[in-house]
This record gives sequence, C-alpha cells and structure tokens, in this order.
Amino acid sequence: MNMKNLVRKNILNFQPYIPGKPIDDVKREFNLKEVVKLASNENPLGPSQKAVSSIKKVLNKINIYPDGYCFELRKKIAAIYGVGENQIIFGNGTDEIIELIGKTFLNPEDEIIVSEHAFIRYKMAGDLMGCKVIEVPMKNYKHDLNAMADAVTKKTKIIFIANPNNPTGTCNTKKEFENYFSKLLATRYLPLTFIDEAYTEYVDEKDYPLGLDYLKKGLNVMFSRTFSKIYGLAGLRIGYGVASSEIISYIERIRPPFNVSSIAQSGAIAALDDHQHIKKSKELVSHEKKYLYEELEKMGLEYIPSVANFILINVGQDGQIIFEKLLRKGVIVRAMDEYGLKKFVRVTIGTPTENRKFIKEVTKTI
Ligand SMILES: Cc1ncc(COP(=O)(O)O)c(C=O)c1O
Repeated sequence: MNMKNLVRKNILNFQPYIPGKPIDDVKREFNLKEVVKLASNENPLGPSQKAVSSIKKVLNKINIYPDGYCFELRKKIAAIYGVGENQIIFGNGTDEIIELIGKTFLNPEDEIIVSEHAFIRYKMAGDLMGCKVIEVPMKNYKHDLNAMADAVTKKTKIIFIANPNNPTGTCNTKKEFENYFSKLLATRYLPLTFIDEAYTEYVDEKDYPLGLDYLKKGLNVMFSRTFSKIYGLAGLRIGYGVASSEIISYIERIRPPFNVSSIAQSGAIAALDDHQHIKKSKELVSHEKKYLYEELEKMGLEYIPSVANFILINVGQDGQIIFEKLLRKGVIVRAMDEYGLKKFVRVTIGTPTENRKFIKEVTKTI
C-alpha cells in the first residue's frame, strides 16, 4: 500500500523546521566535553531564579491538569497592557499561536504576506494550510513595509511582521508602520497584521513602535510576546498573543484545552516580576554585542547591526560549512540556508566566555 495516499497533499512537500542543534547531541557526536550553544537566541544567563522557585512550588501538583484559561497570568498580562482579559490567548510558545492563527483563518484560496528573510514559521503556517505565501523582498535586510502593503489583495488574510525580525536582527520604525497602515486602510480590505515581538525587550531604538499602540487605535492587529527569550524560559514553552476580543474568540475555538502547563504558567508569572533578571539580561546583550561587533570588524566580516540578542554574519562562503566546522570545535551556531542566506550564519549573543570561544574558533575557521 502506498502510504503517501494517506497524507494530506500539502504535507507531502512540507519542509520541517530545523531547530538549533542540542548541546548533548553535539557532545555525543563529536566526543566533546565543552560545547556552547549560540543557536536559538536563548538567554545565556539562564532562567529567572524567581521563576525557578515558583515552579518548585507547583511540582507537587502536576497530577492535576493545568488551568486552561491561565487565570492568574491572564489577569497580570491584561493589567500590564491595559487590555481586556478576553483579548489574550496563550500558547505552547508563540510557535503554537502562529500555527493556531493559520488553522483559524487560512483556506487554500487565501494569501498571506511575509517578507523574504522573515522568521520561517509564518511561511510554514501558510504552507500547512495550503494557501499562497507571497514573499516580499527586503530592503537592506529590513521588512519593506511599503511593498508589503502594496502586495495586499482581496485574498490577503494575514500579513506577518516580526519586529525585530529573526534572523536579520533589524526592526521597522513608527513612521514605516504608520505609512503601512495608511496604505492598508486605503485598500478597504481588512487583513490581520500579526506583529511578532519576541525580541522587543532587547530593543532600545527611540522610534520603535509597539503593536499595542496600533491595536489600541482600533486597527486589525495582533501582537505576540514570548517567555522564551529575555525571560529565559524557552524550555517551558509559553507565549501569548493580544488582539481584539473577536479575533481571539475565533482562535480560542481551536486552542487545545491544556496547551500551557501549570509549570509554565507559574514560571511566567514569577518571571514577569523579576525586573533585576530582565535588566541584567539586557545589559549583558548590549555590552557583549559591542565586543562581538569589534571582533567581527577586526576580521573584516560583514554583519547586520542587530537590535536583538543575535547577529547575522556574512561569512563570505558557504555558511553550512562554517556551521559544521564550528560544531566540531564545540560551538553551535545556525546556518541560514532555509532563510535563503547561504553565506550567512546567525550567532546568539552569549556570556563573555561563550562569545570569546566563538570568536576564537571563528578566527581559526574562516
Ligand atoms: C521572531 C520569533 N518569533 C517566535 C519565535 C518562537 O518563540 P517561542 O519559543 O515562543 O515559540 C521565535 C523563536 O526563535 C522567533 O525568533
């Protein structure tokens, strides 16, 4: 029997996501004792210790299903943004939110708009639902919001914008967003603009726009945040999206009932209050970013200035080969083939020791 006949047509050509390689895999594969992972934009300082203490308190209750509504966390987040509790949806990471949006809104005859080197999970959400994915070229490694608005048709359901974007580390300005929304409103179509703010906490730009402001103006906007980056809770899998109560109510219909664990909820609540940990994490990134820029410049390597906790580097040769050579030296970075950036690697800004090991090994490799 041909099993292929059992599979949905769009799954047959579906390209799975390639995650950053786990440390233990690399240790086993290359027989290494010391391995640093600078591949998934995690927080190198670890989780907030407040989150860890809070999690310990719920461990004895994990025989009970979690609160699928995330009551305590929902109340806290609604208060932070001044939005209604019915305007928030929680997910098993933002990843799940992106997929749920796809499943909620996209038919095969619909279109979504993403930009060329945007975070790949948006395109995957479109591919999963078998809809058309319009990829708009970037301008100087930034989303060309103007061109993205121009690409809107009556078939457009969602425009995905990561601000800052991963892997380019660039962000768009208030002015660019304002022009984008003016253009969008002029089309008379009402697609959803999804603004992914996974790295917002790292951004220092003065003219950096928040999705919240546009949502409050009544625009059809959803923005998302994650606990996986500055909060250091990637292993817990928790993120959320904020939009109008109507948009949220449709997505809620298909959300799995217990998609966020009790451990994740308790860690997230505590992490939100650990301002010291957030401050330290941000300071580490801005300090170490300067060091990395200087070293890359000394090596004559082009990099894209980043507002986030990672840097996209042009290694001037096949990035996959550099990635493999660095693996053997115990440094895990990310090759960028799937993003159409063959000569680039992306490195997460780590601790001072990790960054120095990265620079030492890159110097020997390139
Ligand atoms: C822009 C962006 N959005 C979302 C995610 C996924 O985050 P989460 O861990 O919340 O699923 C990532 C992870 O790298 C990301 O870079």
